Amino acid sequence: MGKVLKIIVGEYQGDDIKMYINEDLIDQIKERADIVDIISSYLTLNRSGSNLVGLCPFHNEKTPSFTVSSSKQFFHCFGCGESGDSITFIMKKENLDFKEAVEFLADKLGIELDGKEVDTKEIEEKRRLYEINRQAGRYFHELLLKNNTSLDYLKRRGMELSEIKRFGIGFAPDEWGNLYKFLKSKGYVSGEIEKIGLINKKKGNNGYYDRFRNRIMFPIIDRNNQIIGFGGRVIDETMPKYLNSKESLIFNKGNNLYGLNLVKKYSNKKNILLVEGYMDVIALFAKGINYAVASLGTALSPNQAKLLKRYGEEIYIAYDSDLAGTKATLRAIDIMSIEGVKPKIVQLPKGMDPDDYIQNKGKIRFERLLKEALSPIDYKIILNKEKFNINNFEEKILFTKEISKVIKDLKSPIEEDVYIEKISQETGITKEAIEKEVRGNYYNNFNNKKENTKIEKPNRENINSRIQSAHIKAEIDLIKLMIIDKEYFYIIRDKILEESFSNLACRKIYNIIKTKYENTDILSIDDLIKEALNIGVNENIIKELKKDSLEYKPTNIEKVIDDLTNTLILNNLEEKRKKTIKAIKELEEDAQKMELDRVHFKELCIELTNLNKEIKSIRYE
Ligand code: CTP
Ligand code: MN
Repeated sequence: MGKVLKIIVGEYQGDDIKMYINEDLIDQIKERADIVDIISSYLTLNRSGSNLVGLCPFHNEKTPSFTVSSSKQFFHCFGCGESGDSITFIMKKENLDFKEAVEFLADKLGIELDGKEVDTKEIEEKRRLYEINRQAGRYFHELLLKNNTSLDYLKRRGMELSEIKRFGIGFAPDEWGNLYKFLKSKGYVSGEIEKIGLINKKKGNNGYYDRFRNRIMFPIIDRNNQIIGFGGRVIDETMPKYLNSKESLIFNKGNNLYGLNLVKKYSNKKNILLVEGYMDVIALFAKGINYAVASLGTALSPNQAKLLKRYGEEIYIAYDSDLAGTKATLRAIDIMSIEGVKPKIVQLPKGMDPDDYIQNKGKIRFERLLKEALSPIDYKIILNKEKFNINNFEEKILFTKEISKVIKDLKSPIEEDVYIEKISQETGITKEAIEKEVRGNYYNNFNNKKENTKIEKPNRENINSRIQSAHIKAEIDLIKLMIIDKEYFYIIRDKILEESFSNLACRKIYNIIKTKYENTDILSIDDLIKEALNIGVNENIIKELKKDSLEYKPTNIEKVIDDLTNTLILNNLEEKRKKTIKAIKELEEDAQKMELDRVHFKELCIELTNLNKEIKSIRYE
């Protein structure tokens, strides 16, 4: 491999010629090339808080000051100041130029470069479209500075000139052909101007008219500081309130977040705050919160979730506190959980959006809300508390059942314990009963395993329970192996995560084993069982542990471990797959109702395809 990139798009200025690198390809490489993996193959990294640290490869040092952030996909050395992303790292370490580093990584990742070449015509077309938007943006901006009505409107809403400039806000006059004329005079042709939704064809096919009229114009700027589209807001009560650019070759709502260009530039990338609208981002920025981005009124897409993850270690959601905002928050939580992100949810007073709140109460009060932001589970508990009256007997049961479902999704046994306790105290229902409710499915299947085989009927439920039993069996076998030999523990630990154990009892036991082995070399099964019983691990699993020994021959133990861990990994992937399918279904149902964007839908489908591929590759490995 290592094919030369013939066509390259982007901004890299080479030695003497300007080279272009395909942006999609670079995104793909960055997506796949995990910086931690890459750097780990050059030096040893150790975890330190949310980052990893090691000895800097770019200068001599005895104490590690070279820091790698997995969430930001970024490295930084506090000793010598070197910093960058995975591509920069390879450039520096392998002494390559940008293009060679891209080739180097693509080669490692098995990404075909020649298949990914972009056709020159498309690049040229895109370049012109960006230019048209830039010209239009400048045109709108200059008009706004001369238009008192809209300046007054913005001022009334608390917007200063500094924000108008920083966000490049403009005004589209109440005219039908001015922008069109202006752009034509700059040498652009109708077809391309229409393509990005700045003009529309007149009826009867005779000429064009400006699409945005009498609207405040918000340019939507991408990470490379290019205007990819506009949102236009009316200054009166005309409908629709916002008119947006059409999806086009350069405008893809689901791949961008409004404000990300500024977050990338100004924020320390520690926190990132997701809001709904343009005005929220701008008002927050004006008051000194320079880490807000907006999903622009559409459902959060997986790609947007990935972007959030890349640009902030802690992700906050502050959607409007109305019904639509609540629904959008719940969906964003789901999408983020597919991406492995746990956001914090900011609760605004009823009927307020971040713009209203910060204008009324100021930055300090807003930051206090961030401090008080809720975990997804606390948020869901609060929502359910509003829904049910727990003083009423029946509703209390419904409430507890709902919450049990939520608790079931928790990844950490400790968290699970805490919440079961909390709900028990609040409702007066015993901890044991809630535990049973939470663990209901698994335990039933587990207990009935033997009987099931006897009275088995070939229906879906039986098949499901057999699959689940097989899966729990794998978890138990892994635990047994770890008890037998610490070496097995090491092999298993490197293959899976604690969360890979879907059965809560198994996860808890794994946790105990891990702690024990990290402190001593030997593990006594009796101690383990005692401890497990102490923290309330279900006795059925323990009985199972005590039971018969394993039937595996020690000679092929590596293969056995591989199979068992794969069973767990597959199960996790299947879970993700289920969540994705659920999200797709929800969108399909919603699509008719509120014309949700197709892009998001497409992305979920791609996600599903990828999961399917991954599942298949493990199955047929
Ligand atoms: N939106 C849209 N089209 C609409 C309504 C809303 O595209 N007809 C998007 C816009 O990106 C908007 C976001 O959804 O910024 C949130 O909507 P909303 O809360 O109504 O707008 P705000 O940004 O709060 O605007 P304002 O405060 O000016 O009403
Ligand atoms: Mn608003």
